[in-house]
Amino acid sequence: MLCYIHIPYCDSKCHYCSFNSYTDKFDTRKLYMSSLYQQLIFEIERFNVKENSIDTLFIGGGTPSTIMPNLYKPIFELLSPYLKDGAEITTEANPNSATKEWLLGMKNLGMNRISFGVQSFNENKLKYLNRAHSPEQAEEAIKNARSLGFEHISLDLIYNYQGDTEELLIDDINRAFTLPIDHISAYELTIEPKTKFYNTPEVKQEDDDLAIFVSNEIIKRGFTQYEISNFGIYQSRHNKGYWKLQNYIGAGAGAVGFLEDRRYYPETDIDKYIKNPLDIREEILTKDEILTEKIFLGLRSNIGIEQNLLDIKMQENADFLVQEKKLEFKNNRYINVDFFLADEVALFILKD
Ligand SMILES: C[S@@+](CC[C@H](N)C(=O)[O-])C[C@H]1O[C@@H](n2cnc3c(N)ncnc32)[C@H](O)[C@@H]1O
Ligand code: SF4
Repeated sequence: MLCYIHIPYCDSKCHYCSFNSYTDKFDTRKLYMSSLYQQLIFEIERFNVKENSIDTLFIGGGTPSTIMPNLYKPIFELLSPYLKDGAEITTEANPNSATKEWLLGMKNLGMNRISFGVQSFNENKLKYLNRAHSPEQAEEAIKNARSLGFEHISLDLIYNYQGDTEELLIDDINRAFTLPIDHISAYELTIEPKTKFYNTPEVKQEDDDLAIFVSNEIIKRGFTQYEISNFGIYQSRHNKGYWKLQNYIGAGAGAVGFLEDRRYYPETDIDKYIKNPLDIREEILTKDEILTEKIFLGLRSNIGIEQNLLDIKMQENADFLVQEKKLEFKNNRYINVDFFLADEVALFILKD
């Protein structure tokens, strides 16, 4: 069992980002956190959560570092009996708001993993993306997190923004590897509706070779690629839980939950969420939809697909791909050998 908590506030809006977050609603923070608390009580019952059974907790956003640790405290007190010993507890953070005080407060609440949105160490690129921090602030925040005792530290990079060259990205990767991190998420820029970049889609560079270049450079420096965009000497259990389609609570405005064959969608509008955090839309997935999802997620990561999930025709297709060396077959699972071909491989397995 996993648990995700969404914090829908940001200091400013990055030009590429469509995640649910507000830059003008900071006065609602206290009310928002108490609505989150209410939803969590409801979900603990709905998911029939037992003591010591939540394996990973992830606080994401938006920007979790816009909320002071004392406002998280009630939620932690509520969740702590349900967290397994040794649970992976992650928070996202932005370099400009993750002060030493904030980091220490979150560490003291029990966080053991932190994921920083860095995107680049290039001053100009950060400006064009409308990031609110400098490269030096990112370096400092990461070093502070380590010296305050965070066990696992990750950073996010974005590539294939216009003008990205091998040189620029090598510099980003080299600077990342000077820092005390054990994980990198490297995302190819996507142009999302309702973002500033949506009006200028040409800012995304179409260069598949650069994607391969970035992943090779990260792998060369010792991190394992365990999903298209994720690399580490530590592999996040929360991420892997999603790709195995484990059950997850999704709390907060714009979060998504999943239980057996159902998806749960709380309100995305923050004011509506605050008023009624239990107004949650439900979607029922068919067996076929669940299988398709498991195939796509499994092939984008090192999770793979359990053989006995596939019908005879799908197994034949997968066995053909094993012969063609596009898949490996290990411990009764089909494992993808090139995550960048995941979607093509999935479609091949699903074809009649
Ligand atoms: C939801 S954000 C939260 C992290 C944190 N707020 C921050 O920005 O520092 C998680 C990550 O998603 C990535 N991301 C968001 N929108 C993206 C896009 N359109 N294309 C590529 N990556 C994106 C960024 O790397 C970002 O750090
Ligand atoms: S990337 Fe992070 S800081 Fe930027 S708008 Fe999205 S959630 Fe907020």
